[in-house]
Amino acid sequence: MPESYRIAVIPGDGTGPEVVREGLKALEAAAGREGFKLDLVHYDLGGERYLRTGEILPSGILEELKGFQAILLGAIGHPQVKAGLLEKGIILTIRFELDQYVNLRPVVLHPGVATPLKDKGPEDIDFAVIRENTEGLYGGSGGFLKKGTPQEVAIQESINTRLGVERCLRYAFEYCLRRNRKRKLTLCGKTNVLTYASDLWERAFHELAGEYPDIKTDYVHVDAACMWMIKNPEQFDVIVTDNLFGDIITDIGAIIQGGLGIAAGGNINPEGVSMFEPMGGSAPKYAGQNVINPLACIGAVQIMLDHLGETAAAQRVEKAIRKVVAHDVRDMAVGRMGHSTSEVGDLVAEHIAGA
Ligand code: IPM
Ligand code: MG
Repeated sequence: MPESYRIAVIPGDGTGPEVVREGLKALEAAAGREGFKLDLVHYDLGGERYLRTGEILPSGILEELKGFQAILLGAIGHPQVKAGLLEKGIILTIRFELDQYVNLRPVVLHPGVATPLKDKGPEDIDFAVIRENTEGLYGGSGGFLKKGTPQEVAIQESINTRLGVERCLRYAFEYCLRRNRKRKLTLCGKTNVLTYASDLWERAFHELAGEYPDIKTDYVHVDAACMWMIKNPEQFDVIVTDNLFGDIITDIGAIIQGGLGIAAGGNINPEGVSMFEPMGGSAPKYAGQNVINPLACIGAVQIMLDHLGETAAAQRVEKAIRKVVAHDVRDMAVGRMGHSTSEVGDLVAEHIAGA
């Protein structure tokens, strides 16, 4: 295990810098307790840089990012920049160029956090979604015909390669083993309609399942998954799915675990450089007010530490988050935390330092 971790930090837009600041407090506190060093390099990327210089993600920076052990991202998105330009140019470009082929989204309801699900509690909401992160409808394949005319045609194709699907499924099987709870992996697709893409996923899934006799397998259509995640979330352990389905169902996951104030995820290349981020956006209207909930970014730090193999440090961060949501922060929503952004970050960091 290295003595020191080189981490790229991209605070980004809106409230991104505020939540990243608190995430780094937790990271520094955990490093202090576990005795490893951090070499943090900040990158100025996002809407402000684009408006100032016209640059979105200079190729030199993209190359530099490949040399870190992990990346921590705050948020990307600026009200004066057309929606999609920065998201595609920064988040999706990093995911694709660094081949972060898994999007890992733990969905865990901590005791003390309110869920909108009636009669459900922490014992019911504890699963993870593993989303393929570099293919599917995000692959960018398609185009226009006769654009701007009444006969206009827009085609957007879903790319599913055997290699891409299989490596994501393998990660999901391995993750399910490591997680060691219900040992159940649910494939989420649309086999009743998408008979090519879902067929490839299903065949690869069943072939791999043969290598993992200890894992129970299951299948759910994506529309039904949206229903079951709300009605009976306790049936899930690990869900694996394609890029767009995963994007959609992880927003349900986020809200049932307490909302964007607490939901986090990782864009993972198991053999390369991974990037960790809170699920919420840049929330420009709250920027600079010290009111946004930093727990999602602190949760991203926890997932990052776990991914780096710093299990004890990750557990310290998780324990501190649990303490803070059980005793201090009563509501995850902006303006209802009863504390400022920096106070919540300080509380977490104090728990880590003192725990
Ligand atoms: C997510 C987000 C992104 C996505 C956007 C910001 C491009 O919704 O990480 O889930 O669609 O993947
Ligand atoms: Mg999304």
